[in-house]
Amino acid sequence: MKTIGFIFCLALAGAAHAAALPLLPMPAQVTVAGDGFTVAANTPIVVDAGDGAARRTADYLADLTARTRHLPLQVKDGPVAGAAIVLTRDPQAPVIHAEGYTLDVTPQGIRVVAREEAGLFYGAITAWQLMTPAHGTGDVQVPAVHIRDEPRFAWRGFMLDSARHFQAPDEVRTLIDQMAQHKLNVLHWHLTDDQGWRIEIKRYPDLTRIGAWRTPPDAGEDGEPQRYGGFYTQDEIRAIVAYAAERHITVVPELDMPGHAQAAVASYPALGVTGQRPPVSPDWGVNPYLYNVDDNTLHFLQNVLDEVMALFPSTYIHVGGDEAVKDQWKASAAVQARMHALKLKDENALQSWFIGQMGQYLAAHGRRLIGWDEILEGGLPASATVMSWRGTQGAIDAARQGHDVVLSPAPQLYLDQMQSDRADETTGRLPSTSLESFYTFEAVPKVLDAAQAKHVLGMQANMWTEHMPTLRHIEHAVFPRMDALAEAAWTPVSAHDWHGFLDRLPAQLARYRAQDIAYADSAFAANIVVDRNAAISSGQATVTLDNQANYGSLHYTTDGSTPDASSPLYVTPLRVSLPVTIKAVATAADGSLLAAPRERVLDVASLRTRSTGELENCPGSDFRLRVQPTPDATTLAPSYLINVFDNCRLYRAAKLDGIEAIRVDAARLPRNYQLAHEAKLVKEHQAATPQGELVVRLDNCQGRTLATLPLPKDGPARFTLQGALARQAGVHDLCLVFTSPISGPIYGVGAVSLLSAKLAP
Ligand code: ACM
Repeated sequence: MKTIGFIFCLALAGAAHAAALPLLPMPAQVTVAGDGFTVAANTPIVVDAGDGAARRTADYLADLTARTRHLPLQVKDGPVAGAAIVLTRDPQAPVIHAEGYTLDVTPQGIRVVAREEAGLFYGAITAWQLMTPAHGTGDVQVPAVHIRDEPRFAWRGFMLDSARHFQAPDEVRTLIDQMAQHKLNVLHWHLTDDQGWRIEIKRYPDLTRIGAWRTPPDAGEDGEPQRYGGFYTQDEIRAIVAYAAERHITVVPELDMPGHAQAAVASYPALGVTGQRPPVSPDWGVNPYLYNVDDNTLHFLQNVLDEVMALFPSTYIHVGGDEAVKDQWKASAAVQARMHALKLKDENALQSWFIGQMGQYLAAHGRRLIGWDEILEGGLPASATVMSWRGTQGAIDAARQGHDVVLSPAPQLYLDQMQSDRADETTGRLPSTSLESFYTFEAVPKVLDAAQAKHVLGMQANMWTEHMPTLRHIEHAVFPRMDALAEAAWTPVSAHDWHGFLDRLPAQLARYRAQDIAYADSAFAANIVVDRNAAISSGQATVTLDNQANYGSLHYTTDGSTPDASSPLYVTPLRVSLPVTIKAVATAADGSLLAAPRERVLDVASLRTRSTGELENCPGSDFRLRVQPTPDATTLAPSYLINVFDNCRLYRAAKLDGIEAIRVDAARLPRNYQLAHEAKLVKEHQAATPQGELVVRLDNCQGRTLATLPLPKDGPARFTLQGALARQAGVHDLCLVFTSPISGPIYGVGAVSLLSAKLAP
């Protein structure tokens, strides 16, 4: 069958149809022509007798379709008799690429043809997506599409950090299933770090007996466990690797070295530089513990790699290399002696030598080394592959030097960046990286010439889990941005189409719901925006509605009822009288909801209240992080926006006429951050009492003091502060600064309310 280019078919053959197909990622070439096919419960999935791989793929397709469409399909051996879904491997298939396939829908059924197992599998995923449009269950009408598809990149990666928080094997499998449904093919599994060693190594049992467990801050209090941790046994790892392989996903393990080694040093202090045994770290950030550079330590790591290579058949083994601050190496006579004996000029060169030793060992065993872009710093063997995370410069430098590269830059492809700035988000870093910014990230740096660009193996999104203690947190952070990643990584750039992507997303959101995946609806959630001070002054508000993706129709109510597509359509800003509750929702073209309805109460009290995300950093550092009261929280709320460098929040443009008092919902949060050389940047504010106070200042952080609210010495971690506020007129910024010692907790502000009445005595 002859297929025509995607652009061409958009123009001629069925623009509306192609854009509306429920496919994510969009295939390379699609045409829509002819009559389609209705898949019903009696439609068989037919495979060639004796093709075990095709049968496995068919079983997978049948299982997915049953789970997500309630459409049970029977898998049968060929030959085909009558209409069917046919999965065939054919060495003469028109698409040569091992991951490529063709798929044709005609009145005779759906036919997927590929040369290799992987291609057949991806064709089956496409068939499943065609059978799971946004609505309905059971029999499904599939349009007459003709697809010819293959991936843009060989490396379509997702990194899971199981060291900072541990996911049970079934939770890892849940994420692997989603990767497969998105045609992603590399799970980069971050298994060791300062906060935990998660892989059983038979030869060194203390790595998991000791290294897999940490004592959290405030252990045993406020729901924190006495100890936190876990690890994967070798049997569990083999099962996960096999599970991934059945879904055409390669698991690339990461053992981070020479830094991020504190859990290993806690297990075997002789691996470290100081000879002391640190705890497995309960802190986030950049810790000082490095491996030493003795032969014994290199042998230890090579022995560990032996067991790792036996478990993971992947060509690539990731050895980390990031954020190894060299203070311990600089301070150690033994390390310095080794450096000089090796005639190395500095500690970067020593790291380079260290990584080079690992690279040689891996190469001798038929494997290849990959590491974070810091491995470039002291020079690198040509065979090493670089994963660029500190922006894209590492990728550019590496590709120019002839190394293969994978693009996974922060913040663009970091999934721990929040999905939006909305108040109802859970934890993560700021600035947020929107669905659109994920979608439009260009993985091939424009400054590379064609030969250099060939070194770009692909792209990867990274799920760091310091602030993602449960699978629910992870799901909120990953989905639907994984869809944007998948399309960027699979679909040719010429077929990237942000608006088409949005049109196709509702079908995917329905698949998430069918599989109980807690995706974020942040891109579509209605923002309900007012000018607070104008509303307080006039008793009337002008309300603007929008959403992050700028997509869908916005509908609203003002009578307390739940909005849907039959509610008034938002066209221009609304004029409303206070008090009123605005509820709003974005709907798709078919009237279905794109997000859960959101509401905002507009009355004077709520207009005078700012929640955590509505307060700004005080001038200085722009570090912003949203955290929960305990590091290992089991729920998604509450969360607090903090700046670990300056415990200070700014309440912009407070209308102070008639204000007599202030109330602050606050929380005492653990200060469990290792900031390495940046620790000296943490600001300390002069306290009047040992535990400090919250001082409210007028206009700026050097301004006149309007209130001083002593901080409680102990008691519950969440508490309310309130007190009189010296009377002012007009509109002013308020600086809320915590003067507590920086050796103590960080304080989070959940909400600040300005009150017009004097407080009851
Ligand atoms: C990294 O984010 N430290 C690779």
